[in-house]
Amino acid sequence: MSIHVAFTPLGLPPADVAGRTVVVVDILRATTSIVAALDHGARAVIIAADTDEAITLAQSLDRRDVLLAGERHGIAIPGFQLGNSPREMLADTVRGKTLVMTTTNGTRALLATAGAHEVLVGAAVNLSVVGARLREAVESGREVLILCAGREHGFGMDDAYLAGRFVIAALGGRRLRKGLNDAAIVSVDLVRRYGDRIDRALALSAAGRDLTRLGFAGDIEAAAAIDAHPVLALYHDRRVTLAARV
Ligand code: MLT
Repeated sequence: MSIHVAFTPLGLPPADVAGRTVVVVDILRATTSIVAALDHGARAVIIAADTDEAITLAQSLDRRDVLLAGERHGIAIPGFQLGNSPREMLADTVRGKTLVMTTTNGTRALLATAGAHEVLVGAAVNLSVVGARLREAVESGREVLILCAGREHGFGMDDAYLAGRFVIAALGGRRLRKGLNDAAIVSVDLVRRYGDRIDRALALSAAGRDLTRLGFAGDIEAAAAIDAHPVLALYHDRRVTLAARV
């Protein structure tokens, strides 16, 4: 068994991704928003590295079906129809649309998964569905990586807490620590510290404090809503789409 956590995609060797079941986590807010958008009927979320690429990708699609989404410094990008708030991803807004998204850290983490066996988009809003998939992966002998988007190339406590919840789910009740890397062990310890109080772990994190300062405290609440969007979102070749509804 091998369950690893990476706190940031920066410097992640391709060998640490190759062949693994990877979960990308950016709970505040990119992966939460992606999962919410797909659950509310978006056709796909296309991942762009930066603003220019997002605009170019959007131009290659039918304008009527496309919404540009994303943020820089937490704020919606000028000219984009949507920011990066899960509360913007309403059915009336996103149903039938393809979103082209670029964010500061989350989309960068998704783009760092080349060579993975499969890439799941993980958030608290789809915790149980992703956790079950991880457990299956471990049981079938596959290696798992939980890849946190982190913050500006560094550690983010919000993502690390959720990574710990995924490690625990992947372990499926086993108490074994063998096969966990140090980051996975620390993530589980963080869950021990905050227990079920995901709201506290998120609100106290630097990303959470920034969002509160920017007036997005409601997004922390939305991101903490365990299993609010019980769907499996898979990333492949720049696109996130829904795999199954549970
Ligand atoms: C990111 O990708 O860095 C985040 O999702 C930022 C945000 O809160 O919008």
